[in-house]
Amino acid sequence: MQKIPSSEITPMAGYVAYQRTLSRRGLLGALAGIAGGVVAAACTPASTAADMQPAATVAADRTAAPVPTAAATAAAAPAVAATAGAASNADELGDSFTDRASVTGYNNYYEFSTDKEGVAPAAAGFAVDPWTVQVGGLVNKPATFDIGQLRKQFGEEERVYRLRCVEAWSMVIPWQGFELAKLLQAVEPQAAAKYVRFETLLDPARMPGQQQAWYSWPYVEGLRLDEAMHSLTLLATGLYGSALLPQNGAPLRLVTPWKYGFKSIKAIVKIDLVAEQPTSLWMAAAPNEYGFYANVNPQVDHPRWSQASERRIGEFSRRPTLPFNGYADEVAGLYAGMDLQANF
Ligand code: MTE
Repeated sequence: MQKIPSSEITPMAGYVAYQRTLSRRGLLGALAGIAGGVVAAACTPASTAADMQPAATVAADRTAAPVPTAAATAAAAPAVAATAGAASNADELGDSFTDRASVTGYNNYYEFSTDKEGVAPAAAGFAVDPWTVQVGGLVNKPATFDIGQLRKQFGEEERVYRLRCVEAWSMVIPWQGFELAKLLQAVEPQAAAKYVRFETLLDPARMPGQQQAWYSWPYVEGLRLDEAMHSLTLLATGLYGSALLPQNGAPLRLVTPWKYGFKSIKAIVKIDLVAEQPTSLWMAAAPNEYGFYANVNPQVDHPRWSQASERRIGEFSRRPTLPFNGYADEVAGLYAGMDLQANF
């Protein structure tokens, strides 16, 4: 596994850690309204964050890397971008898989650790069998599945996807899993269902990060129903040809390759079809930083760093970030007419 510089900090954690400091001083309530602005200056000094670059310094990246035209992207990316390249150990853009040791050793999973290289050791031995997933809400046929049943009923296929973290690093990962649409069709969404809400296991004894009170556990994520039904949206049960390891979200995690990685919620125990847009853990923690849609968008910077470029794990130089992480041909239509600055 390539060595990740220790100077890489966890910027997503920065905001909440800072809130905790305020809270200790009894100032949280008083400062809540201005926290976003304070934190922007306080918790992610660019000099210590290898992957995040302040927006002002990377304007050149954006001019150097024009947004690809639809025609150019279409030529480069076959329609079924997801499955191409598996045999050649590269994705459909020709980018090599990230080495397995990095995929399984450099993780974001705050239930176990906020130190990326500390997640795998902290999650080692986390028991994922037995495990059930309850699917309900606005559906005609609510059901509870165990993982064996899910695999048997919906199968398993390989999908090679780029994972672009909001923290401006990325990987190429060969996943195994099945389309979320298959599961949703089986439970028959009702007409009133407009969104899908996902929940991670809540078990502070086994997931020690949940003993830290400054996040509103459990981890929650959401998708609009049409995003959830999209053929790129995967429920992953494995990667690199083996069952998922705990650090990657075993036994079941979401993968939405055109969105920032924080949408791909791990260790799912509950999936509900709902009428209202769910509030995710990150939206609740830092609404000015993490929106509901979280589509990869090089034109919309994070308040504390640029999203114009990224560092592929295993490489040293940066590369331009592609709109929708390179899946624009497949998914841009989902957002036709929407203001993607406002709906970040
Ligand atoms: N899911 C849960 N339950 N808890 C988390 O902290 N982190 C998210 C996402 N899913 C997270 C989670 C973030 S920020 C990212 S980038 C991806 O998981 C990382 O997935 P990986 O560790 O398998 O690369």
